Amino acid sequence: MKIDIITIFPQMFESTLKEGVIKIALEKKLVDVKLHNLRDYVHNKHSQIDDAPYGGGFGMVMKPGPFFEAVESISKNSISGKPRVILLTPQGKPFNQRLAEELSREKHLIVLCGRYEGIDERVHENLATDEISIGDYILSGGEYAAMALVDSVIRLVPGVLGKRESLAEETFTRGLLEYPQYTRPREWQGWAVPEILISGHHEAIRKWRIRKSLEKTLARRPDLIYEDSLTEEEKEILKEIKGLISK
Ligand code: ADE
Repeated sequence: MKIDIITIFPQMFESTLKEGVIKIALEKKLVDVKLHNLRDYVHNKHSQIDDAPYGGGFGMVMKPGPFFEAVESISKNSISGKPRVILLTPQGKPFNQRLAEELSREKHLIVLCGRYEGIDERVHENLATDEISIGDYILSGGEYAAMALVDSVIRLVPGVLGKRESLAEETFTRGLLEYPQYTRPREWQGWAVPEILISGHHEAIRKWRIRKSLEKTLARRPDLIYEDSLTEEEKEILKEIKGLISK
């Protein structure tokens, strides 16, 4: 997979590419990430990247030209016929694990980071194939959102994480929050690890984990529970939990 990131602050990404899962993915050559400085595509005397909005109003708007030129130049050498051009914006569709999985199957992503009050609408309309928001809050720039998106996509690329089974269990892969995890020491400041996890009863532990995962999801994110996607066993346990709550 190839990911090209277009930004006026390429240095912001440098340490994220040198650490953790992304570093490993780059070393294994499973993913190639390239940073592009949007200013390299500005051709006016003062390297002006933005301008006042037509119709008046506060703030500045990022010009369309440099974005179009950068994408055109990158697309010329694209390994994929049609790269996905992703614009990070709070107006975009909400990012979630399903979208991360979809993007992790693409060959080529071009990620556009916006700044200031906004980007010329023609970039939204005619250049981006996807407009994505990472949540209902305003960041000072698309760079932070791009880092979150790129990290969540790269870790799903086959071969990046050693143990695929850990992906199968994690939060959101199946739409439920994860069960609680503990490690040594067995007691910490008076808080003990649940007995069942030390019991050695694998079947009882498996059931306990399902129950905890369902309890947590029901308490914190009931919107994530779609009964259709639960197994028969999970449905039974959920019924029990709801029965206990209503008592
Ligand atoms: N740019 C500013 N805020 C953003 C958000 N919440 N998601 C994506 N891009 C953004």
